[in-house]
Amino acid sequence: MNIVIFGAPGSGKGTQSEKLINEYSLHHISTGDVLREHIANGTEIGKVASAIIANGQLIPDNLMIDILADNLKNHPDAIEKGVIFDGFPRTIPQAEALNELLKKEYDSEIHAVVGLEVAEDELVRRMIERGKSSGRADDNLETIQKRLSVYHKQTQPLCEYYKNAGKYRPINGNGTVDEIFGEIKEQLKK
Ligand code: AP5
Ligand code: MG
Repeated sequence: MNIVIFGAPGSGKGTQSEKLINEYSLHHISTGDVLREHIANGTEIGKVASAIIANGQLIPDNLMIDILADNLKNHPDAIEKGVIFDGFPRTIPQAEALNELLKKEYDSEIHAVVGLEVAEDELVRRMIERGKSSGRADDNLETIQKRLSVYHKQTQPLCEYYKNAGKYRPINGNGTVDEIFGEIKEQLKK
């Protein structure tokens, strides 16, 4: 099963991905983690991504699509295990490229989109709290506000896109980590 874990910055995508990996042994791709690794290693991609991330904007679609395709190519067992896509897609063109890649290269598809729906003040609270120790260049109030605005403009339209495809599974993302995970498992069983 290939799952997109979808939601605003701070909605719990990474946290719930960890739990899903433990439960179902899926291959996890967090595009944010991949980019932060590039930055830490000082690669060419890292040099491009660094300022964009610190400014709360999105990395260009073509670069992100290449990164994702490379990751799948480098993990030949990924589709067989099932993939959890965390932080990708973030735009309609990314979603369309993902559909095409899965179909063409792997004769596969996205089976469910788990949408973590969290109140905006809670998102801000979580990211400010994490910023006290994360060292992430984007966990400060100014960048958090830009990330949320970019999310509403560029990423949220994907909700409608996946609803129209019959794949969107809304989850109340405001409870405890375990409550939310329980609700995700219920939805995936369906
Ligand atoms: P990315 O790393 O994907 O960041 P994000 O989407 O902004 O989300 P976060 O990772 O901050 O939050 P999360 O939803 O994973 O929540 P988490 O579990 O950590 O992307 C960073 C940047 O990279 C982007 O801004 C962009 O520049 C670039 N980028 C990445 N992908 C891209 C793409 N596809 N296209 C273009 N650009 C791309 O939880 C947050 C905090 O809350 C944690 O501290 C956690 O412990 C806590 N928490 C979690 N659940 C709960 C709970 N239930 N109750 C209380 N606290 C909780
Ligand atoms: Mg994350």
